[in-house]
Amino acid sequence: MIIERATADDLDTLLALRQEASWWLTTLGTDQWQRPYPADRLLSTIEAGVVFMVRDSESTAATITLTSKAEEGLWTDQELQEVSCFVNKLIVARTHAGQNLGGRLLSWAGDRAYLSGAAWLRLDAWTTNKPLQRYYLRHGFDYVRTVTEGEAVNGGPRVSGWLGQRPTRLAFDHELADLT
Ligand SMILES: CC(C)(COP(=O)(O)OP(=O)(O)OC[C@H]1O[C@@H](n2cnc3c(N)ncnc32)[C@H](O)[C@@H]1OP(=O)(O)O)[C@@H](O)C(=O)NCCC(=O)NCCS
Repeated sequence: MIIERATADDLDTLLALRQEASWWLTTLGTDQWQRPYPADRLLSTIEAGVVFMVRDSESTAATITLTSKAEEGLWTDQELQEVSCFVNKLIVARTHAGQNLGGRLLSWAGDRAYLSGAAWLRLDAWTTNKPLQRYYLRHGFDYVRTVTEGEAVNGGPRVSGWLGQRPTRLAFDHELADLT
């Protein structure tokens, strides 16, 4: 399995992965990701070089976005003074579910963040999705706080999220060829 930076050619694949995830999420009874993700926003993150693709010999297995840019309105000024990297849009294709690929990508992200000098790996999960929040707790994230719409910090836009963080650390995955 390899991990490499996404290019504009991956846009359709990424939109399809997102679509597949949102269909699957419907079967779990959550309202997470029921609105289509805007292609232009996705393209701009690809162009920023922060979207990564995981592929095996046959198909796209997963994607992760890892950025040093915090989403506005979620983290306080004090938190933002601590050097951090943020995981967004982690998706494992259903063909590859149940193999801890998501966990391995969180380790990859923590390793990359550590090497970039970040102390924290942070993320925001869907505010109402308890099973997803438990997933992150199982993967060593500590709950920080839930931001609900209308109380965004720093006077930022109306955003919401269950915030989690875990310290970054070195982790080498022998079975993931890093082509980034
Ligand atoms: C979250 C994700 C990347 C984890 O991948 P993974 O480590 O390979 O783990 P799996 O897909 O096998 O899921 C592990 C467990 O978490 C649960 N889970 C994962 N995402 C979930 C979600 N969004 N809502 C509810 N449960 C979820 C799965 O149902 C599974 O539960 P089980 O162990 O009882 O079967 C993957 O499940 C996924 O793509 N989920 C949909 C997109 C998503 O929610 N991404 C996170 C955005 S913050």
